[in-house]
Amino acid sequence: MAATDKPVEKFRKDYKPSPYLISTVHLDFQLNEESTLVQSKLRIVPNHAESSPVSLFLNGHADVVLESIRVNGADLEASHYAADAQGLTIKSGLPSGEWDLEIATRIKPQENTSLEGLYRSGGMFCSQCEAEGFRHITYFLDRPDVMAKYTSRIEADKAKYPVLLSNGNLVDQGDLEGGRHFTVWEDPFVKPCYLFALVAGDLAVQEDTFRTMSGKDVALRIYTDAHNTSKVAFAMQSLKRAMKWDEETFGLEYDLDLFNIVAVDDFNMGAMENKSLNLFNSRLVLATPDTATDADFGRIEGVVGHEYFHNWTGNRVTCRDWFQLTLKEGLTVYRDQEFSADLNSRGVKRVEDVARLRAAQFPEDAGPLAHAIRPDSVIKMDNFYTATVYEKGAEVVRLYEALLGRAGFRAGLDLYFARHDGGAVTCDDFRAAMADASGADLGGLEGWYARAGTPRVEVGVEHDAGAGTLTVTATQAPPVLTAREGGVTTAGQAMLRQAVLRLEHQRQTWVFERVPARPVPSVLRGFSAPVRLTFKAHALALPDLAELVPEVPGADPLLLHHVREAAARALAAALRPELERAARDNSDPPGAPYEFEAGACARRALKNAALGALARLGGEGVTQDLLARFRAATNMTDEAAALAALDRIGGKVRQEALDAFYAKWKHEPLVLLKWIAMQAASNLPGNTAAVRTLMQHEAVKLSNPNTCYSLFLAFARSPVNFHAADGSGYEFMADSVLQIDQINHQVAARMVGVFNSWRNYDAERGALMTAALRRMASANGISANVYEIVTKALP
Ligand code: PHE
Ligand code: ZN
Repeated sequence: MAATDKPVEKFRKDYKPSPYLISTVHLDFQLNEESTLVQSKLRIVPNHAESSPVSLFLNGHADVVLESIRVNGADLEASHYAADAQGLTIKSGLPSGEWDLEIATRIKPQENTSLEGLYRSGGMFCSQCEAEGFRHITYFLDRPDVMAKYTSRIEADKAKYPVLLSNGNLVDQGDLEGGRHFTVWEDPFVKPCYLFALVAGDLAVQEDTFRTMSGKDVALRIYTDAHNTSKVAFAMQSLKRAMKWDEETFGLEYDLDLFNIVAVDDFNMGAMENKSLNLFNSRLVLATPDTATDADFGRIEGVVGHEYFHNWTGNRVTCRDWFQLTLKEGLTVYRDQEFSADLNSRGVKRVEDVARLRAAQFPEDAGPLAHAIRPDSVIKMDNFYTATVYEKGAEVVRLYEALLGRAGFRAGLDLYFARHDGGAVTCDDFRAAMADASGADLGGLEGWYARAGTPRVEVGVEHDAGAGTLTVTATQAPPVLTAREGGVTTAGQAMLRQAVLRLEHQRQTWVFERVPARPVPSVLRGFSAPVRLTFKAHALALPDLAELVPEVPGADPLLLHHVREAAARALAAALRPELERAARDNSDPPGAPYEFEAGACARRALKNAALGALARLGGEGVTQDLLARFRAATNMTDEAAALAALDRIGGKVRQEALDAFYAKWKHEPLVLLKWIAMQAASNLPGNTAAVRTLMQHEAVKLSNPNTCYSLFLAFARSPVNFHAADGSGYEFMADSVLQIDQINHQVAARMVGVFNSWRNYDAERGALMTAALRRMASANGISANVYEIVTKALP
């Protein structure tokens, strides 16, 4: 265990308001190649709600070197304060009332591989402060309920870093001696420090404007490396659509004159909603038809929307403490899901979201890391950006909508903003606003915030032909308030009756009158997938192994894999003519332009699913067809799908296709992520050795999180190699976790997650997986991030 990273468990019930607040923050950054000097001037305000405190503790980190400290303009004597790896305590000499605290710290962004705080990516400086990264920059009250107004001055070499950005409005800039220059930014809105951002680099910009509903023009700017400017048009269009959609759907208007997005290559997460300066993982901004798939375009649209929507749900109203994370994330995921549904096919979007919930969140909720959407305790907050907090959180928000209706939901949200704008609040405050705006009793929703696990609901239906009644009975365990649209149709016909069923107790019954013929009930509408034309591609897919494993106690993953493959092959053989027709009829004529549009995406998805199924049958005809398609593809959706199909065929064509793909795309790191993932996930026997070799490839940079995810998380999806009976896959993974933990704790902790499911497997594999977990747990110097996941996973 690193001395700086003592794993301390923190509890939600221990929340106490901060004894001090901060009203204004003035930051000054002197960026240099060897180190960065950070000077911060804080206006400290006692929080009078509390009894008068004697000392002030500011969070910090071992990487932060204290240079000087002044109180009301005078140097503070060394006897008054103490600094360690956790922070800075001012023990005595504190003035009463409001006062100024000036702190100078020195940091080394160029040595920061954790990618939190201030760090280097490529040639630029950038920051990541959520959840607790600001303390890696300077000593501060690093908690979301301390909200202040920020002014930030950035100074750097002008030739190397012509672009200097921070939050809010640019209020001053100029040249300095020695080839240096500066900018000053002022953010008029109060914010917690996790929304602070800084960028300095030699970046190219693409500009556009958006006129808001009240007639204000907002400058929109997307910054990238110069060679990527041609790849931001889609993100820009998505941003403008998101701005318009939020006005039309929720009456929410943008509140500053500019909105910046910066693409960052080395980024732990997807993207970050810093006030007016969103930072994005490059893979979620950069896209052209030839480099990005339909799925990539869909994700970009959704995430650009997501980060933009945070401006209201997250930034204008933020979280009181990190246990409330779902307050902003569940709500904002719900909003981005609705945005994508309105722009594309609502049905397909819902099927995708539910599939994701079932594949990622249900297992999490049934595993050793199960937690409520509002967790009760946490060691490292970074470990709680989970499918539960995000996706299940969004489903809970969807419950409000189901219970209150669209108009009631909107009224609740309006009241939430009216009450809490500029504040840091809790999930209870959200529920209260929703309830008060509509007068509804929403107390039954509390259970969703308090308890982990997926409730089981069983529905029975009885039709009495004589009386013409239909009785629907639902039982659930444990009982919590749920509501889903339910309906009944006559077989194959239009909807007969529809109602929102409010399920609150362990057992409930509804009687529908005047139902003459035996109907087909459709409960949980919108949660289960009615199969229509656009669903065909989804209907073609067999359940994922991740979904099958929990259904089979003591599963042998290899056996399950072979059974699934055999079933898929048999299905393909039986459906061969239909598959061939689907592939032929949905192929674009040569030269057809690519369009990201629901119908076109659905046709490509169906065609490529059919080709993937045909690849299972192999044979010269199929192989030649796939090769021809691979070579002729004019968009990445088709090119990557053809490559995946050839990968399935294996042998010489597989290797030739992989080599050709590399030769074509070796200058596009984002495209190479697909190439890496495909090789890492291969089920070729003995592929673990090939993956070890791949780690040495010039395209593989282990300090880049995207590369690690494509390499290691993809490897863990291979039943043949990750779950190899001799334990070699687990060994490799554990070695890799320990290696990556030396570089980046957050990425390493995510990698450990692949061992969480060990209880689902046969005894031999369970033993091998827990042995790997034990080896990681007892390794020297593991981070608190890895420690938390490993120890929770162990029995
Ligand atoms: N708040 C980001 C989002 O969901 C996610 C994130 C968390 C990014 C922590 C970076 C660090 O939009
Ligand atoms: Zn978010």
